[in-house]
Amino acid sequence: MSDSDLSVYKQIGPEAFERLIDGFYRRVATDPVLRPMYPDDELDAAARRLRLFLIQLFGGPATYSDERGHPRLRARHLPFRIDQAARDVWMQHMQAALDEAEIADPARGAMLAYFERAATGMINTYNPD
Ligand code: HEM
Repeated sequence: MSDSDLSVYKQIGPEAFERLIDGFYRRVATDPVLRPMYPDDELDAAARRLRLFLIQLFGGPATYSDERGHPRLRARHLPFRIDQAARDVWMQHMQAALDEAEIADPARGAMLAYFERAATGMINTYNPD
């Protein structure tokens, strides 16, 4: 993690992560591509895991790893079929949630750069033309 990542949590605080994740999962809840990937009654639990993960990644308390161990994000996403289209929908919702949460630069830019890179890394299907 770089110094700029470290400062994100200090810049925006825990409430901003809560606003971000609330807005993101509200969108996932009605999304025809993403919603079916999440276990029926697990959205709240999934939202909490993502919030704690991001807080830890961006320099806040390490509650995520205390509860879940090493993130192993790519391995944990292998059970879901993530193609380019699913990745793009995920990104659209996250970008809209960043706007709605009114997270300002430079935190917004650092988070967006991370999401773009990490979401692409989660693609686990090959789609021949
Ligand atoms: C920046 C990219 C991403 C990050 C940082 C991220 C992060 C996470 C985290 C932290 C979890 C919980 C892992 C755990 O069990 O502890 C999770 C679960 C999950 N993610 Fe992602 N994810 C990303 C991209 C995606 C994409 C692109 C999709 C699908 C299009 C996706 C679908 C899911 C699903 C279905 C789960 C399972 C719900 C759960 O049990 O938590 N994720 N993700």
